[in-house]
Amino acid sequence: MSLKSAAMKLMQKAIEHAPDSWVPGNTPDRLITHKHGLIGAPVTRIDGPLKVKGAAPFSAEFPLPEMLYAAVAFSTIARGRITSLDTAAAEAASGVKLVMTWKNAPKLKPTPLFNSSPKAAGPSDLPIMQNSSIHWNGEAIALVLADTQEQADYAKSLIRATYQEEPAVTDFEQAIKNAREPKNILGEKPMVKEGDAESALSSARHRVDAIFRTPRQNHNPIELHAVTLFWEDGELYVHDASQAVAQTAWTLAEVFKLDEKKVHVSSPYVGGGFGSKTLWHHHVLAAAASKMANRPVRLVLSREGVYRTVGGRTTTQQRVAIGADSDGRFQALIHTGVAAMTEHNDCPEQFSFPARHLYATKTFTIGQKVANMDMLANTFMRAPGESIGTFALESAVDELAAQMDIDPIELRIRNEPEKDPTTGNPFSSRNIIKAYRDGADRFGWGNRHANAGTQREGEWLIGMGCATATYPYYRMPGGKARLSISRDGFVSADVAAHEMGMGTATAQTQVVAERLAVAPQCVRVNYGSSDLSGTFIAGGSSQSASIGASIEAAHAAIVEELIKLAGKDSPLHGLDAEDVESRNAGLFSVKDPSRGESYAAILRRAGKSDVSVETSAPAPLEVQHWSMHSFGAMFAEVRVNAITGETRVSRFLGSFDCGRILNAKTAASQFRGGIIMGLGLALMEETQWDTRKGRIMNPSLAEYHLPVHMDVPEIDVIWTDIADPHTPIGARGIGEIGITGTGAAVANAIYNACGKRIRELPITLDKLL
Ligand code: MOS
Repeated sequence: MSLKSAAMKLMQKAIEHAPDSWVPGNTPDRLITHKHGLIGAPVTRIDGPLKVKGAAPFSAEFPLPEMLYAAVAFSTIARGRITSLDTAAAEAASGVKLVMTWKNAPKLKPTPLFNSSPKAAGPSDLPIMQNSSIHWNGEAIALVLADTQEQADYAKSLIRATYQEEPAVTDFEQAIKNAREPKNILGEKPMVKEGDAESALSSARHRVDAIFRTPRQNHNPIELHAVTLFWEDGELYVHDASQAVAQTAWTLAEVFKLDEKKVHVSSPYVGGGFGSKTLWHHHVLAAAASKMANRPVRLVLSREGVYRTVGGRTTTQQRVAIGADSDGRFQALIHTGVAAMTEHNDCPEQFSFPARHLYATKTFTIGQKVANMDMLANTFMRAPGESIGTFALESAVDELAAQMDIDPIELRIRNEPEKDPTTGNPFSSRNIIKAYRDGADRFGWGNRHANAGTQREGEWLIGMGCATATYPYYRMPGGKARLSISRDGFVSADVAAHEMGMGTATAQTQVVAERLAVAPQCVRVNYGSSDLSGTFIAGGSSQSASIGASIEAAHAAIVEELIKLAGKDSPLHGLDAEDVESRNAGLFSVKDPSRGESYAAILRRAGKSDVSVETSAPAPLEVQHWSMHSFGAMFAEVRVNAITGETRVSRFLGSFDCGRILNAKTAASQFRGGIIMGLGLALMEETQWDTRKGRIMNPSLAEYHLPVHMDVPEIDVIWTDIADPHTPIGARGIGEIGITGTGAAVANAIYNACGKRIRELPITLDKLL
């Protein structure tokens, strides 16, 4: 162990054992108890009307004078060298202004790898068009700039390349033979153990021990990945579709050796991200080409281009084994396996995370390895790890319940832990049993027939299944907000955060309005630009908490400023910041509610037009001190056709325990969206992969199957709304949890319908025949 990791370990222990009072989140946020009704209200999205009118500009919709259009040509081998690249015909084609290849591209530093430093956003640390080497099937080999998109696309089609191929690892079955233990998995230990789980398993009264397989998946947000960008006076301006504006700006600055302030990334609207709208090579290539051509550039990846350029969910093989005593109490829990990755990225698809926190067990072995392949760097895709990890784990729990003839909910209740089973930390808030009971009631779980394959209507076999959903609470470091109050009573909050359709701008407007006790009409939340305060990511279901903590800190700072400004003629004179609270668009004494005045009055008397602070959130140490997770109980009813093997999900319910819900309307949509993605994961989504060539064979929405309206039943969602005392506003993340547990709930319902246990996703009809 290096000195650095030893020091980090020591620090982690210190935080785990520190008195609560030292840890952020110890004092419950005032907004948890202090409500005036805005938090949780079903406020309609404030960006809705603009989007419906088509007036919300997306990254590919900014018109720039003299703009050129880009098209990208992709390699057709997985590994090797370009031996010849004939671009003459493309260069001679009409409208073409530039063909950029490794021969003429400017010198570019590789993108610093995600997690290698606080703002690094590199998908890999590979060189980008700097030499003739090819690292994956689909890597960009040339970029064409032309006056129109059609001219660029046509010219691109004229480029001819020849290659010298080198042996490549393109088959997961081969790669898995050289699986290795990664240094860490998102900062966690790759493997955790307690006791001898293997021998506890073999001596257990009841056991299941099974292998699960999950496929590659590709990202398919409706909005294609695109940048419209230009250079001016040595500074780079990027209209992007981004889940990470500050990180993208910083990383591009590194690549072009600029001061980070000279790169400006703006992204007011994003047409879906799900983990994919981060920095990829097209950003760098477009910026480089724009610099060479000295013209603004728009690069919209084609749908195929997204598959070639933007990574997705990686393939895994997982083992889940559970040994239980005669009461069903877990004596052994084993969740191990391998995920495919590349030598040049660090995204190990943390499928072993759910098992670390869900069940009390006497012994456990939980961890994972990675296997290198020659492929495009894989990346985050909604609940990376947890989505497919819960598929395996929660299928196995269901299998054990069936074997023991115990209701699967009852089996889970019997193994509910008192504290986190692997870290020993207390849970910040965990009401998973309530989520199950509420969900079971509402879904009519009592009508389920425990014996598989006994319910039939004509050709259709009917079954019900359930599974646990879980996703960690994250709050990211680097949160910072600028908060301003003007004399005319308006409040603005500036954060370099993101709206990709989930309702951030709306929910945060509610939170700011409630925290400052002003009408939401008087609040403006500015976001979507790297020039604003702080570093946020619309990822890891972390953004609401990260903004929440930043605003909370900025509010405390602005109250102090206002108290200073109030002066001796104010009714607040003599009170300290901790003696007052925000109420009625002003500050009032906590003890004497009649004593106080409006923000506007304070500013008027002080002769100021506004007051403004920029404040950092405290470091997110709470996640090391408490075990913090969102939870859910997922219920599916399916119909499996006995003749064709086709599965139809006829009903679905998600019962969530995610702390306080900030906006009932946008939250319900978040949950439903996650569940729909989970239905795709369960039944349809699969990247068809040529194991010989390492090439994606279905890079289109025609051949990559996703749920459409007819595949999606009415989805009911409910939540406990129990505030987490250790998080801002009492809320935990909700962005990703919907996709977790859904795969297993469907698989378990399929088993209940027809008696077939399918352990390989997606559960297509061929597997059921
Ligand atoms: Mo999410 S996969 O962290 O956008």
